[in-house]
Amino acid sequence: MKQRVDSLNQQFEHISDLEKIVEIIVTQPDLKVGFASSLSIEDQVLTDVIAKVKPDTRIFTLDTGRLPVESYDLLDAVQQRYPKLNIEIYFPRPEQVEPMVAEHGINLFHTSVENRKRCCHARKIEPLQRALVGLDGWMTGMRRDQSVTRGQLNYVEWDTANGLLKFNPLLNWSEADVWAYIKEHKVPYNALYDQGYRSIGCAPCSRAVPQGGEVRDGRWWWENSEHKECGLHRKG
Ligand code: ADX
Ligand code: SF4
Repeated sequence: MKQRVDSLNQQFEHISDLEKIVEIIVTQPDLKVGFASSLSIEDQVLTDVIAKVKPDTRIFTLDTGRLPVESYDLLDAVQQRYPKLNIEIYFPRPEQVEPMVAEHGINLFHTSVENRKRCCHARKIEPLQRALVGLDGWMTGMRRDQSVTRGQLNYVEWDTANGLLKFNPLLNWSEADVWAYIKEHKVPYNALYDQGYRSIGCAPCSRAVPQGGEVRDGRWWWENSEHKECGLHRKG
């Protein structure tokens, strides 16, 4: 598999057209690749591209049960804008969430990093693991300049935690590139961005970023930046 990863990475280094890269990823003859959309601006770009190049690609979103109302409005708008896409929605399992909340409280994420990770595990990681069943690879909207933890991203990686390939076709895009695409193609986006949000996850764990801040400063702002991954993208 290492050889496959290396040769795909080399191939993508020479292609500047996102549509082409995504098409190659989702039409690998021997690989079934799905797309995880959090409905972020980055993921909206990829959704728009997938609708053009291969609308029957598996697309799924993880509804943690704690999303902002604006994210649900966007999901609705996306389903209307792209009727050919079938966006699968994965929910957490009650048997994971109910005992956790009973023991640690509904807002447990504020009490410790450990409890925050526990909540992300029940509400995102376990559902992700179910969503990935049957796939050989998954595509994300991650970019290198989003955070200190993402500077080393490659187009293609082996996701050791989940045991499949991971594709990051937007890795070299800047936030401005993403907005330029969204505006040019009139892609629907989450209304919270117009209120100063720059990265959006669950409502209690996302907020607007003040002028001059970093993209992910509004995520889990009470933790320091090395911890700021929910575990969907953990290494090993
Ligand atoms: S997170 O780890 O902090 O939550 P972030 O919001 O930056 O991640 O999203 C990075 C990528 O992870 C997204 O582009 C998407 O591919 C995937 N992702 C994150 N959250 C979700 C979600 N709720 N549903 C589906 N995919 C998600
Ligand atoms: Fe829980 Fe916050 Fe993680 Fe959402 S982002 S799953 S509310 S800790």
